[in-house]
Amino acid sequence: MGQAWGVANLDSTLITGIGELVTNDDGGFAARPDAALVIAGGRVAWTGPASWAPAADAVVDAGGRAVLPGFVDSHAHLIFAGERSAEFAARMAGRPYRAGGILVTVEATRAAPDAVLRANLRRLAVEMLGQGTTTFECKSGYGLTVPDEARGLALAAEVTPEVTYLGAHVVPPEFAADPAGYLDLVRGPMLAACAPHARWIDVFCEDGAFGADEAAAVLAAGRAAGLAARVHANQLGPGPGVQVAAQADAASADHCTFLTDADVDALASTPVVATLLPGAEFGCRQPFPDARRLLDAGVTVALATDCNPGSSFTSSMPFCIALAVREMRMTTEEAVWAATAGGAQALRRDDIGHLGVGARADLILLDAPSHAYLAYRPGVPLISAVWQAGRLVAGSSPSPPSLP
Ligand code: NIG
Ligand code: FE
Repeated sequence: MGQAWGVANLDSTLITGIGELVTNDDGGFAARPDAALVIAGGRVAWTGPASWAPAADAVVDAGGRAVLPGFVDSHAHLIFAGERSAEFAARMAGRPYRAGGILVTVEATRAAPDAVLRANLRRLAVEMLGQGTTTFECKSGYGLTVPDEARGLALAAEVTPEVTYLGAHVVPPEFAADPAGYLDLVRGPMLAACAPHARWIDVFCEDGAFGADEAAAVLAAGRAAGLAARVHANQLGPGPGVQVAAQADAASADHCTFLTDADVDALASTPVVATLLPGAEFGCRQPFPDARRLLDAGVTVALATDCNPGSSFTSSMPFCIALAVREMRMTTEEAVWAATAGGAQALRRDDIGHLGVGARADLILLDAPSHAYLAYRPGVPLISAVWQAGRLVAGSSPSPPSLP
C-alpha cells in the first residue's frame, strides 16, 4: 500500500525507480524494493511501490539506486581552530591518547578571530552535507572562558539547531589549582551566557576531566537553565559516566567504550541512547565498543562521528557505518538505522532519521543498489545526491527534473 499525505497546492517531486528505499518508518530498520517517494512542501508526502506512484510536478529517476534518510550525526565538536596531526602521528607511533591534548586546541581556539572559527565550522558543515549528513549536533568546549564558550555557541547556532554547551570539557590551565572554582563558573556565569544559544548541556565524565558528582552538578544546573542533558561517558576507561547519564535523564550517553554489566543494564532499562563513536576508537587505536552486547540487551544504539581535531577527525558517517559493521558486530541494517533513526532518537527528534510520510524530506541517493554498500565498499564516495527539507543541496540529481 502506498502512504499519502495532503499535497494540494505544493510543488512536488517524485523520485522513482528506487532500487531500495530505506524508510525506517515502523520503528526499526525498514526498506522496500522498487519504490518511489514524493516530496512536497519540504516533507515526505508519499512512499510506496514505484508502479503506484502518483503524478508530481517534477520527476527524478533513481535508476535502481538506493535512497536512504539523511544521516543524523548527533555528536560533533566543530568549533575550533588549529589541528593536531602531529599528536595523531605520535599516537600511531605508540603514544597513548590523553584528554590533555584538548588544551592545545583550547589555546588555538581562544586566539582565533570569529571569522576563522566561522569559516572552519562552515567548511566542516559543507563537508558533512556532501557525505549525506543532513542534521548534525555541534558542541562548544574549546573556549572554556565565558566569552569564548558563548561566541562558539552563537556561531554553532548559525548552522544547526542542535547546539550543545560543553563548558565542562576539561579544567582550563588558569583554573588548574582551583577546579572547584572552574566548576562554579561552568554552572554559574558561563551557563547563563551560553544557555540562550544552546539546546543541550554535555559533560566529559572521565578521569582527568570531571567526576560523577561534578558531572551530576553540571547537568542539574543545565537542566535548571532549560538545557537537556547528554554525557561523554566511559570513553577512556570504566567509570561512572553511564550511571550519571541515566540518573540525569540524559538523551544520550556517548562513547560507551568501557561498560560493566550494570552500565549495560542501566542503558537497557532507561530511554538513554548509547551513542557509539567508532571514529574515536579508530583515531586513538583503542578497542571498539561491542555494539552487539548493547543491541542484544535491548539498548538503543546511535552512531556518530565525534568529529574533532583530537580523537576523531572524521566527518564521515559512511566511514563510521563501515567501522561499526566490521569492528563492532553490527549488521548493515543496524548500522544504517543507528546512523539515521538512532541519531534522531539521541537528539529527541521524530521529524528526521526516517522517511515516513510527514518526515522532513532529508534524503540521500546512493550510487549503489543497497544500503549495504556503505560498509561493503568502505572509503568509496557513494553519496551521489543529498536533499535537505526537499531541496537538492549536494551532488546532482540523476536525471534533470522534467514534467511527467
Ligand atoms: O569526544 N572526550 C572528550 N572530547 C573529545 C576529544 C576532544 C579532543 O581530543 O580534542 C572526544 O573524543
Ligand atoms: Fe566527543
